[in-house]
Amino acid sequence: MKRVGIAILGLGVVGGGSYRILTDNRDFYRRTQDVDLCVESVLECDRERALALGVPEDCIASNIFEIVSDPDVSIVVECIGGIGAAREFALAALHAGKTVVTSNKELFCKFSHELEKEARRNNAGLYFEASCVGGVPIIRTLLDGVQSNRISAMMGIINGTTNYILTKMTQDGASYEDALREAQELGYAECDPSADVEGFDAAYKLSILSSLAFHTKVPFSKVFREGITGVSKEDIADGEALGYRLKLLAIGKQTPSGIEVRVHPTFVRKEHPLAAVNDSFNAVYLTGDSVGDVMLYGRGAGALPTGSAIVSDIIYAATHSEHKYSTFRNTANAEKDVKFVSDFLSAYYLRLTVQDKTGVLAKLSSVFGKCNVSIVEMIQKSAVGGKSTIVLITHETHELAVRSAVAKLESSEIAKVESVLRVAL
Ligand code: HSE
Repeated sequence: MKRVGIAILGLGVVGGGSYRILTDNRDFYRRTQDVDLCVESVLECDRERALALGVPEDCIASNIFEIVSDPDVSIVVECIGGIGAAREFALAALHAGKTVVTSNKELFCKFSHELEKEARRNNAGLYFEASCVGGVPIIRTLLDGVQSNRISAMMGIINGTTNYILTKMTQDGASYEDALREAQELGYAECDPSADVEGFDAAYKLSILSSLAFHTKVPFSKVFREGITGVSKEDIADGEALGYRLKLLAIGKQTPSGIEVRVHPTFVRKEHPLAAVNDSFNAVYLTGDSVGDVMLYGRGAGALPTGSAIVSDIIYAATHSEHKYSTFRNTANAEKDVKFVSDFLSAYYLRLTVQDKTGVLAKLSSVFGKCNVSIVEMIQKSAVGGKSTIVLITHETHELAVRSAVAKLESSEIAKVESVLRVAL
């Protein structure tokens, strides 16, 4: 039976989970996959953490050079995170002809061209299923499940922390701060929670997924990004009353005018399957020209779900003689001839505060009309202290038209615009 030596760099949540899966299931993989996966070494500066996981003392390497020069190691798993040592060590491993498996979305998103060039040059593999949506096999699905299709759209909840926060705010009426604290205590959030709540984590993942879905490099810089820090309980409640649920959505579309990629809080109809994806669960909804709609659902974070994706990549690499690389032109600036849409079309939710007096609604309508913004529905709440709250949903409208209407309403003091959120109709 083929024996494959593995080294794991970093034994934090994901590296530790991968180590557990590999050691607990070694016999199972021997039986079912006909391969003996053996963890030869780990690189972890916290020795106690490695020993507590059961790593034998003599398997703890002192530096990356011990690993890349070890002829018994053929697969290196990068679970360090960030783009400093992780990039340097991954390149060193590829340079030595070792296959690299990584969970690092920022690394793959920003340096996929550099890593893949080095991998191809040394006939090494480069696998990154764990970088996007944890245990949900979305990358394998795009590469090996729906590759017969032209994908026209992708819509997903691809960050567990923000989904947990929005679920708590929706179901329990929790404040944003309390819900974030709980998500951190449960270990969902990144070390710096701004990566989650400002939408960076989801934007890295969307950049990778849309590059694979649309066969064109979609750089992180092209992803429109807005996080959930400005979301209020009032918006969530008003949306609920109108039949919508608020989710941080990552949306990718291939349109006749170009590729559209965006991450922002979005109201979805309560009947939409994504509205039922709660807590730290993730889901991706794809539309292909032959298959139609496909939805994948599961845990997008955590030691064992993300470890599951890592170990599945290891098994793929260990049992295939040919490596599989990107299905898009993965070179520096490959996107320079590609059109990206920034003035996208969406429906909008607006919450406004207005003076409760005659003629205000007529002035509002006039501004919206001049900016080509058409209203689908509107509610006016009972006035308090001479001021009234108006909540409205627009028809599909260009982003710039809505921004222009908002600027006009504020500059002419017709209304104070409290919130602008996008709606997926
Ligand atoms: N912090 C991420 C999330 C973990 O909440 O989804 C996986 O990227």
